[in-house]
Amino acid sequence: MNASMEVVPTAENENPGSGSESGHFDVIIVGGGPGGYASALYGASAGLNIALIEMNKLGGTCLHVGCVPAKALLETATVLRTTDHAKEFGVLAESSGLDLSITQERKQGIIDKLAGGLTSLLKGRKVTLFDGVGRLDADHRTVHVSGGESGDVTITADSVILAAGSVPRTIPGFDVDGELIVTSDEVLQIREVPDKAVVIGGGAIGCEFASLLSDLGSQVTVLEALPKILPGLDKDITQVVERSFKKRGIEVRTDVKVTGHTPGESGTTVEFGDGESVEAGLVVVSVGRRPFPDKLGLEETKVGVSDRGFVEVDENCRTSVEGVWAVGDLIATPQLAHIGFAEGMVAIRDILGEDPQPIDYDRVPWCIYCHPEVAFSGFSEEAAKEAGHDVVVSKHRFAGNGRAMIVGEPDGMVKVIAEKLPDGTGGQVLGVHLVGPWATELLGQAYLSVNWEATVAEVAHFIQPHPTLSESFGETMMSLTGRSLH
Ligand code: NAI
Repeated sequence: MNASMEVVPTAENENPGSGSESGHFDVIIVGGGPGGYASALYGASAGLNIALIEMNKLGGTCLHVGCVPAKALLETATVLRTTDHAKEFGVLAESSGLDLSITQERKQGIIDKLAGGLTSLLKGRKVTLFDGVGRLDADHRTVHVSGGESGDVTITADSVILAAGSVPRTIPGFDVDGELIVTSDEVLQIREVPDKAVVIGGGAIGCEFASLLSDLGSQVTVLEALPKILPGLDKDITQVVERSFKKRGIEVRTDVKVTGHTPGESGTTVEFGDGESVEAGLVVVSVGRRPFPDKLGLEETKVGVSDRGFVEVDENCRTSVEGVWAVGDLIATPQLAHIGFAEGMVAIRDILGEDPQPIDYDRVPWCIYCHPEVAFSGFSEEAAKEAGHDVVVSKHRFAGNGRAMIVGEPDGMVKVIAEKLPDGTGGQVLGVHLVGPWATELLGQAYLSVNWEATVAEVAHFIQPHPTLSESFGETMMSLTGRSLH
């Protein structure tokens, strides 16, 4: 059994790990990542009797090979950058380098603590945990568990939530060996910083690892197939990231097709474009993630799965079969842990007959933890125009913000996109896009403005504390009312 996994017997289900028939539940959840464990916690807190099946580690990708470890490593990069610039603050401490083993130990400590906390929470709410692979029976109410510490078990429920998540995509010619060619799963375990690294794919994952490896000392090249990195992001925001990457020596090559690689003595040569190549001691393949319905046995059921492998659902996360829901990376919605949480709650509320409010996927919060950080909610300027909105836009750079100067991070901006009123000022806030220091933490009030469908005047009315980075948010809103301070 995994250290973080413990089968919890309940009064009704004395020893769920040993029998062939092990009880009936209100809800069975297959998959213990954010989508699955949020469904379990929320459902149990509403009084439902829940079974949660996990074949690997409770916490899923996010906790073990995703958000948490990636951000923990990125924090080491931040500390290193701060130390490198300490002299500018009058602190005469030189960084004497990096001990990656301590970094990795710290990262693992955070994961272990969170995993332990999660298990305790689930135990505290009397969720019954099964360690093994869950396979949905053709009757859509029975789930067979096998291959794990719980042994062969068959359980039934009134409702089933599928939350089996996703796995990294790979590309032909790049067989992942975990050493030279890695995905996000393996790069998080690095024990040495490579001299040269190539990152294939300039999406959220690619940019976070490019930023990390560069800060740790690698010479990094990003190879992106599309015309720009972070596709889909507002172009003003992307430009700030691109400029920062360039200043730090990260080479970004866009519009290039990667054709293969030729391993050599101390690394490999990655071939791309029109006969160009670049050497690397580490190649990070970050070309997206694919859904992972592979072990759910859905081919024996009537649950609809798209050509791309996503389980098909409606706005309440209901699959094509009554009584079966699907949430998280398994469905074709933004592959973000917090979307998994939100979908888990929608599914549980639907099971409870509470008529949940569907998620407005166009306005969910997005956070990318590269340096500089990126965060946004709602339309980009381009997307708002494409959707037919007449827009008015305001941008404020952090260069003029006192707190940004104080923390020594003046690169970045706040950009607000609002509906244009007849007098040319801003009406409803359509999108807020942030890049710069603590952008991911600044997103809170931006997210609320967009999702509460506030007008710029309503938001500008509120006082921002001084000196803070959030003053730039307030100023940007205020300038759209036609008046301003700074
Ligand atoms: P992605 O789909 O966001 O980006 C993949 C990039 O790879 C795209 O720009 C694509 O054009 C490019 N690409 C695909 N094939 C290529 C090829 N053969 N050569 C060069 N470029 C190629 O996927 P990513 O970054 O792997 O992330 C996966 C999911 O996880 C996404 O949905 C992402 O939003 C989410 N995620 C979000 C994070 C965050 O918000 N902080 C962090 C990590 C992941």
